[in-house]
Amino acid sequence: MAWDPKTYLNFGAERTRPAAELLARIALHAPARVVDLGCGPGNSTALLAARWPSADLEGVDSSPEMLEEAKRSGVKARWSEADIAKWNPGASYDVIFSNATFQWLPDHKTLLPHLMSHVAESGVFAFQVPRNFDEPCHTLIHDVVKNGPWAAKLKGVRDWWNVLEPDAYFGILENVARAVDIWETTYVQVLEGEDAVFRWMSGTGLRPFANALEGAEREAFLAEYRSRVAAAYPRRESGATLYPFRRLFCVARR
Ligand SMILES: C[S@@+](CC[C@H](N)C(=O)[O-])C[C@H]1O[C@@H](n2cnc3c(N)ncnc32)[C@H](O)[C@@H]1O
Repeated sequence: MAWDPKTYLNFGAERTRPAAELLARIALHAPARVVDLGCGPGNSTALLAARWPSADLEGVDSSPEMLEEAKRSGVKARWSEADIAKWNPGASYDVIFSNATFQWLPDHKTLLPHLMSHVAESGVFAFQVPRNFDEPCHTLIHDVVKNGPWAAKLKGVRDWWNVLEPDAYFGILENVARAVDIWETTYVQVLEGEDAVFRWMSGTGLRPFANALEGAEREAFLAEYRSRVAAAYPRRESGATLYPFRRLFCVARR
């Protein structure tokens, strides 16, 4: 599943803000080893590099396109291509950080304790995931999928939901962490320009569906979703589109 770093970074400030707010809740002065899981184009890794300039910093991602962009970013880190689901580093980390990535990974009940086992004593595991999968930007994709000539082709394309409830995350981590801090924030994002939510979703959740279609059929699918999502998030007279977006944050201390 190819990522397009340029489309993703069209809303770079909005996508990076939760990483900054997650990082602000990590009370470590000078961690020695830090990893950014799902580092993408390096936007979240840049924050880690700025906060802890002397740390040994790694960025891990499964997308060669994203890693290429991360290397071009000039952020001082080691970059490696790996699937987080199979990631088994030989060492432990003072900080395992992940912004906006675990929603792409299944089975958090197994994944999270596994990652926690790679956090050093007194270290921190911190992640952020979107929790807006019941909002129109996502439910409309599934409506359009079900009700068009592409339904059979798109059956089974991301019709799953990996992200859990806050109390489930607490339950998973309470036995393996000394302390667990969990919170949610709904950002009322103010996006500028035409078809803002469509453009946002084109960089993330819409990709698996668009990638599964070709040519005129792909165009028709995207046009249908674009008009439905524009009606659900109307553009104001000022030109701004309000796009509420709920995210869950978790900082677990070993
Ligand atoms: C939404 S981007 C987040 C990028 C960045 N961390 C940020 O804060 O904006 C999600 C990233 O997770 C990566 N990703 C998704 N599934 C993955 C997996 N199984 N293993 C490694 N990386 C994965 C994608 O390639 C993508 O770069």
